[in-house]
Amino acid sequence: MQNRIVTLDEFIIHRQKEVPFASGELTGLLRDIGVAAKIVNREVNKAGLLNILGAAGSENTHGENVQKLDLYANEKLIECLRNSGECCGIGSEENEEFIPVPPVDGKESKYVVVMDPLDGSSNIDVNVSVGTIFGIYRRKSEPSGPVNAADFLQKGEDLVAAGYVLYGTSTILVYTTGRGVNGFTLDPTIGEFCLSHQNIQIPKRGNYYSVNQGYYLKFDVEMRRYIDHCSDENYGLRYIGSMVADIHRILFQGGIFLYPNTRKYPLGKLRLLYECNPLGFIVEQAGGRAISCYLERILEIEPKELHQRATIAMGSPEMVDEMQAFVQKYSTLPV
Ligand code: AHG
Ligand code: MN
Ligand code: MN
Repeated sequence: MQNRIVTLDEFIIHRQKEVPFASGELTGLLRDIGVAAKIVNREVNKAGLLNILGAAGSENTHGENVQKLDLYANEKLIECLRNSGECCGIGSEENEEFIPVPPVDGKESKYVVVMDPLDGSSNIDVNVSVGTIFGIYRRKSEPSGPVNAADFLQKGEDLVAAGYVLYGTSTILVYTTGRGVNGFTLDPTIGEFCLSHQNIQIPKRGNYYSVNQGYYLKFDVEMRRYIDHCSDENYGLRYIGSMVADIHRILFQGGIFLYPNTRKYPLGKLRLLYECNPLGFIVEQAGGRAISCYLERILEIEPKELHQRATIAMGSPEMVDEMQAFVQKYSTLPV
């Protein structure tokens, strides 16, 4: 498959053939997400032209300012998933409740999708990379009825597939179904995602750490000690403010991404279902680690609510090990 262009669709179908008794439903769902990503990409790229930039004038369920493009991406993804016929429910960062999807042409489907339709929305207005994150679970409820909360409140380790799209200098879709991580760059001239990064392996260590250092004084002492260590070691600081973009860099160059608890966000800011689990699954599949700042493996956390937040430390395995050692060493100190 090396010497010619392999499109995302071809790759997904090729992979399906390797799985005995695969029904093609997951394949279809992944393809539909790829189509939705192209539609969102089109809007992201012409955002400045269409006066689509700026706040939509409403707040999402987390009380954050919603950008117009967040709404657009959310609507487009929901529309594609509704029409897909391979998805029976959607949990979105932008919707308070999960969205049941009725069968298309009477066909029952067994997958639910969780997503952050537009990650890094504070960067939209200033032409900095943003992304889309998604995770796919097999439903737990009976296929004949509507979905329920338990279908969404599954641990990250139960993910069937996860991926992200980064609308960056080029647009890239990265996904895993638990058998390695592969990346596909959008060739705008032919409108196809083409295999560009096969079997991505995260470096064991990197030279960068990624954290909002502006909150340094609001972090617990063990986290401050670890950040001091990063600085002592002369690691460079890189923080984009779009988690997808920071994790993408770390997948290729190594490093660690941190979003610890702060006084404003005592449970962490990032969402377990929509951000931490899908990206944690990808990072682990690439040979990295993803843990909370309380040292639980992210993928083993049992979600209790749809919009649950988590603290996060993920990236190169040896750097996460090191951060864990700092927490174990210093967390008994008084703050
Ligand atoms: P979203 O745009 O989906 O709300 O996510 C933003 C997230 C994440 O992408 C980023 O790493 C983090 O919030 C930035 O938060 P701070 O500005 O607090 O550092
Ligand atoms: Mn986000
Ligand atoms: Mn978002």
